[in-house]
Amino acid sequence: MILFVNACVREQSRTRRLADNLLSFLDGSAEEVRLAEITFPKVDEAFLNRREELIWQGRFDDPMFRYARQFAEASRIVIAAPYWDLSFPASLKQYLEQVSVPGITFAYTEDGTPKGLCHADRLYYVTTAGGLYVPDTFGFGYVKALAEDLFGIGRAELIRAAGLDLDGADPEELLWESIREIYGKYGPQSEK
Ligand SMILES: Cc1cc2nc3c(=O)[nH]c(=O)nc-3n(C[C@H](O)[C@H](O)[C@H](O)COP(=O)(O)O)c2cc1C
Repeated sequence: MILFVNACVREQSRTRRLADNLLSFLDGSAEEVRLAEITFPKVDEAFLNRREELIWQGRFDDPMFRYARQFAEASRIVIAAPYWDLSFPASLKQYLEQVSVPGITFAYTEDGTPKGLCHADRLYYVTTAGGLYVPDTFGFGYVKALAEDLFGIGRAELIRAAGLDLDGADPEELLWESIREIYGKYGPQSEK
């Protein structure tokens, strides 16, 4: 199952458009999670205590863990998130908090290092940015570290178009450049 984590907000989202192109080249249909439509629980102390208790009891079938289970089971994961304030929309952070569950997406070994439990061998992170100052540090870099170092996903790859909102930019052409790159890397002639 391909999991499509959609953190796009705008109706005419350009990030979504790039993600749709990528998804059209991946084998199999995708299950979409639209983060803008989800009201995530308030993560207060009561929530943490309940979560801790369920984990302790090994009750991973609780509805609280549905996103974590779905994430762990996916064979490929596509995350689409516009570049906001040097990273991504807060809904994606909320989602990642729901997904990071010891016992489902990762475990700690005896020496305290994490061991990934996710099945996916690849995670694609799709983003578009208005400007050209787009360091990876807090957006893709953070998701890549989570994916590869915590969840055990073989490789996280970045697909990006930047500079779309700059004066004089031709966003349509910039998007097409990215779409051509997606086609080259993931299209029918590629090795994926
Ligand atoms: C709340 C908000 C924050 C943004 N922050 C940045 C930013 O830090 N750097 C940047 O280059 N563009 C920023 N942008 C512009 C978006 O990255 C750009 O318009 C992007 O293409 C939007 O993606 P979408 O079409 O998928 O919604 C921001 C836009 C919004 C709405």
